[in-house]
Amino acid sequence: MSGEGFTLINGVQLPAGAFGTYKAADGKSADVISLAIGAGYRYFDTASFYGTEEYLAEAIGRSGIPRNEFFITSKLWKEEMGYKNVKEAFERSLQRLKTDYLDLYLIHWPLPYPGCTDWRELDAETWRALEELYREGKVRAIGLSNFLPHHIENILEHCEIPPMVDQIEYHPGYSQEAAVKYCQEKEILVQAWSPLGRTRVLQDPLILSMAEKYGVSPAKICLAFAVQRGVQPLPKASSQERMKENLDLCSFEMEQEDIWKLVTMPQTGWSGEHPDRERVRYEDMK
Ligand SMILES: NC(=O)c1ccc[n+]([C@@H]2O[C@H](COP(=O)([O-])OP(=O)(O)OC[C@H]3O[C@@H](n4cnc5c(N)ncnc54)[C@H](OP(=O)(O)O)[C@@H]3O)[C@@H](O)[C@H]2O)c1
Repeated sequence: MSGEGFTLINGVQLPAGAFGTYKAADGKSADVISLAIGAGYRYFDTASFYGTEEYLAEAIGRSGIPRNEFFITSKLWKEEMGYKNVKEAFERSLQRLKTDYLDLYLIHWPLPYPGCTDWRELDAETWRALEELYREGKVRAIGLSNFLPHHIENILEHCEIPPMVDQIEYHPGYSQEAAVKYCQEKEILVQAWSPLGRTRVLQDPLILSMAEKYGVSPAKICLAFAVQRGVQPLPKASSQERMKENLDLCSFEMEQEDIWKLVTMPQTGWSGEHPDRERVRYEDMK
């Protein structure tokens, strides 16, 4: 990452500070997203599944800031996979977002359901539709989400345009090292969803000790853990104070020894989601 942000293999620049919109409009209002624009965010991560595309459009409209100053990512949902479905899903996202292009469009999950046996063909034809949208100039970059190396291999075997991004769960305690290494070798930018482990890791003793050592919050340790490993974090917050805290990504640097400690800590804070498996639900899970 440079001070300006992250750069994709096709040269497209991503602003460093990105805002995740999952559950950001639970009050059926655009107010939280407007607050995030006010805090300085210009990169917004949404998806057809989140139900936040309309609210994002409303907040952008209200801001009076031109569309081209925003970076908008959306994703096609499991039921929208397949060549024809993707084209329709993309148009629906554009309509909800009140825009005529996306900055980044992702396949949300590699399998429509665990145990699906024809996922290879389905992913390949879904990707073919994304490639066409990219060639037609309707989207500036295309990529994946929740794809593990074996899913990406399948795309690479069939594609003409390789994926530029893979968005995966990533935070201390679940940093999916094999997937990160694989993507970085292929120059696929890794983005971190739940970079704060949806708060589940913020009380971990190792993270608390590092927060004390560097004089920052536990959330900042998690965000630095992403940025220093070349991973773009996509945090979500509700108050403008937290939004601003999460935007400030380069205020300190952790020693390499501490990064290794975070990389190798025992698994904690996993969401329970895995693309090849049924979701594991914990009783205390948010
Ligand atoms: N591709 C995928 O499959 C996928 C899956 C999940 C998420 N995502 C994306 O990733 C984004 C972020 O993930 P997430 O929302 O699951 O989790 P997250 O960003 O790790 O955590 C959000 C939680 O952390 C709290 N928080 C935010 N900033 C904080 C701070 N500075 N100090 C303490 N607590 C703080 C928030 O509380 P308040 O809201 O109360 O402030 C909220 O409860 C989503 O919004 C979505 O865009 C993608």
